[in-house]
Amino acid sequence: MLIEKNPNKTTDTNSLKLSVQSINERYTSLSETSCCLSCGGAINHANVKLNEICLDLGSGRGNDVLRMAEAAGEGGYAYGIDLSDGMVAKARRNIEKFEIKNAEIIQSEMEKLPLSENSIDIVISNCTINHSSNKEAVWSEVYRVLNPGGRFVVSDIYATLPIADEYRNDPEAIAECWAGAVTRAEYLFMLEEAGFSNIKILEESEPYAKGKAEVASFTVYGEKHP
Ligand SMILES: C[S@@+](CC[C@H](N)C(=O)[O-])C[C@H]1O[C@@H](n2cnc3c(N)ncnc32)[C@H](O)[C@@H]1O
Repeated sequence: MLIEKNPNKTTDTNSLKLSVQSINERYTSLSETSCCLSCGGAINHANVKLNEICLDLGSGRGNDVLRMAEAAGEGGYAYGIDLSDGMVAKARRNIEKFEIKNAEIIQSEMEKLPLSENSIDIVISNCTINHSSNKEAVWSEVYRVLNPGGRFVVSDIYATLPIADEYRNDPEAIAECWAGAVTRAEYLFMLEEAGFSNIKILEESEPYAKGKAEVASFTVYGEKHP
């Protein structure tokens, strides 16, 4: 099947900056609310084992990082990556409050991870990768940092039809978790292109309206070759 490369990919540096700024503003204001920001139950399918090194992309308030740190135990470690000032501050406060020693939040964009190759056992992410204007870079980074035999479990949204041209580079609509969505076929194609194997959909919603689009949520699993 021939699938167009991610049409949402923004090449214009200015739109990219605006998009990062909108995401930072939106999530900094949401960091102190209790509203749910997730698309699915990635963490519930992660099956983190003792001593594993874990990574959460778009870690938000850090809840899943804390859960992975607890499951991995003293011999394991959990990293959270997030770009938003407010989310990073909130998650760091949570780590301090619960006196967690085996977790940290790194402020970074997930398109270029400040982590070594072959250093992570499991990557999770919840409702974050849809925001990226360079999803191929994100998946290539996930592949790079995973250990051979490592796995990802990602909950995200996809669009049932390609997002209309007038919205796909709109920074606010991207920050609202819908205009950055690609179709299901494009999503799965990116995972294959990045090199993952044993790709499985673990859960999937019915389509629903979001912003000016129809989307669905799913949780996807994949592995890096041992
Ligand atoms: C919908 S929230 C989800 C937060 C958390 N995963 C949860 O389920 O509660 C998306 C998060 O991804 C972060 N984010 C969006 N784009 C990002 C990027 N390119 N790099 C790093 N973090 C990003 C946002 O700052 C926000 O905290």
